[in-house]
Amino acid sequence: MSAPDIESRGVDQQTGTGVLSRTRARIADRTLRTDRWWLSPLLTVLGLAFFVIYSTIRAFWGSAYYVPEYNYLTPFYSPCLSTACEPGSSHFGTLFDFPWFIPYAALSLPFLLLFRLTCYYYRKAYYRSVWFSPPACAVAEPHSKYTGETRFPLIMQNLHRYFFYAAALVVLINTYDAIAAFSGENGFGIGLGNLILLANVILLWAYTFSCHSCRHVAGGRLKNFSKHPVRYWFWTQVSKLNTRHMQYAWITLFMLMFTDFYVMLVASGTIADLRIIN
Ligand code: FES
Repeated sequence: MSAPDIESRGVDQQTGTGVLSRTRARIADRTLRTDRWWLSPLLTVLGLAFFVIYSTIRAFWGSAYYVPEYNYLTPFYSPCLSTACEPGSSHFGTLFDFPWFIPYAALSLPFLLLFRLTCYYYRKAYYRSVWFSPPACAVAEPHSKYTGETRFPLIMQNLHRYFFYAAALVVLINTYDAIAAFSGENGFGIGLGNLILLANVILLWAYTFSCHSCRHVAGGRLKNFSKHPVRYWFWTQVSKLNTRHMQYAWITLFMLMFTDFYVMLVASGTIADLRIIN
């Protein structure tokens, strides 16, 4: 960027930070990239917005979340803790009758949200696509200051390791729901809903185990691996999963919605569950 251009943006390049700092090249254009660098952030923001809108609507929907006949409970309502939950859907008991503005799974949803919000991959995704910090490699960000995650509220991202434990507990609850769904009103049975619920928890475990915090739990703070063969083995497996963390992040997001959507269709009577063993 030529000197007059920078100054016309009201930034003193002697004191500016980030792309406007004194040590950066003075390039007039926001980027010299000619490829479709904007496509990735655009798809990311669309995908995240779709999930936020869908999950918010469903969390407050208050119906079509449980199929008593097959004991199918959508993960968006697990654990179902209100006394108003449908009979049979509260696998872990109830607390009290929640007012309308509190989702039935009020105990798990905030932790799941915070777990995803502070996830290392999602941070990268929404820092780029929502906050444009920066939107892509070699594309100047609109902000003149950069403080990273050193101040409130972004310093709270460091709590991710604790949300990991809470999220693992919720996946354990979802796993219980998926196994319990093999036992419906008529006893043991297998339907398409069972396979979807099962696939959902397997993918959720893959996402949870591939978490960077899980990798640290497995192999962090060790001076050498040779004295800890079990932890080394666990760390090796987690590290393999970790290379695909981004894929698991997206797959589980859409699988959660698909699982909920399927349960909703069956629970509302829109479609019948495809039964393999009755
Ligand atoms: Fe993504 Fe932990 S880093 S869930």
